[in-house]
Amino acid sequence: MIDEVNEMDKPKIYITRKIPSYLIEPFLDQLQFKMWLEEDTPVPVDVLRNEIKEVDGLLCLLTDQIDQKCLKKANRLKIIANMAVGYDNIDVSFAHSKNIIVTNTPDVLTETTADLTFALLMATARRLVEAMDYIRKNKWRDWAPFMMAGTDIYHKTIGIVGMGRIGVAVAKRAQGFNMNVLYHNRSRNLEAEKNFGATYTEFNQLLREADFVVSLLPLTKETENIFDESAFSNMKSSSIFINVSRGGVVDEKALYKALSSGTIRAAGLDVFKHEPIGITHPFMQLNNVVLLPHIGSASIATRENMISLCLKNISNICQGKKPLTPVKI
Ligand code: DGY
Repeated sequence: MIDEVNEMDKPKIYITRKIPSYLIEPFLDQLQFKMWLEEDTPVPVDVLRNEIKEVDGLLCLLTDQIDQKCLKKANRLKIIANMAVGYDNIDVSFAHSKNIIVTNTPDVLTETTADLTFALLMATARRLVEAMDYIRKNKWRDWAPFMMAGTDIYHKTIGIVGMGRIGVAVAKRAQGFNMNVLYHNRSRNLEAEKNFGATYTEFNQLLREADFVVSLLPLTKETENIFDESAFSNMKSSSIFINVSRGGVVDEKALYKALSSGTIRAAGLDVFKHEPIGITHPFMQLNNVVLLPHIGSASIATRENMISLCLKNISNICQGKKPLTPVKI
């Protein structure tokens, strides 16, 4: 009976997707959990708006829109722990106006996302997906001088747009390939400049000079559609565009046009304006793209670390302690 009373007193946490019980177990003595278990799909909006009414904490994903309509239902919510470093799915200023803390998952995913950025850059430059398709379609007959010939990476110029933690980790990898590193950011990043030889460059100049333009920008009002027709027309016709940040920073019609008309050579995209994309998406008709289903941080260890960080943030707030990784705007 005493145990039951204690159980009832524990702060209530709602988790919007099924996550492994071994990650939750360390927190069971302090918190009680409910999860969206029905299917391995995002929680329906009406279910979320109902569940959020009586919980103290929410662990949500980037697929959940935590907007004003949703937050207005929250009567006692203290923390929203977003399992992502990006938080464009949350109305953070409205949450703050209701004294709700928002946390994200920086640092734990930096190296994994930088690895994927580089993997995508290399796969696009050296046409790996196209090459495998070539074999799969039984087109490989013999060795030929220019069969599946792509673009070199070493000694080329990489232009990183958005020099946060992941940008720095990408610059570090680029240095290993003897690349010339340019970057553009709201403010100078002295660590990238000092440790990885990155040169601060105006946006349009970076587009003109880079062989690889890599977007690591957060999605905000200022960055929405920043890669538009004029951005692509500024880039070299031999250049390759990589996006591992948010699809919203790209005008996808303009990118399609740039790719199909030869304005730029190729693109590697991990993110899209409306996810998931399906086989009818116009990009699927192009050979000069490598498309991934938003897997920048998708290593098992990193996904575990992201979930654990969310739970630690929730646990801290429910114990009256400070969050580890609060979103500050
Ligand atoms: C993020 O964290 O914002 C990524 O898009 C998912 O890892």
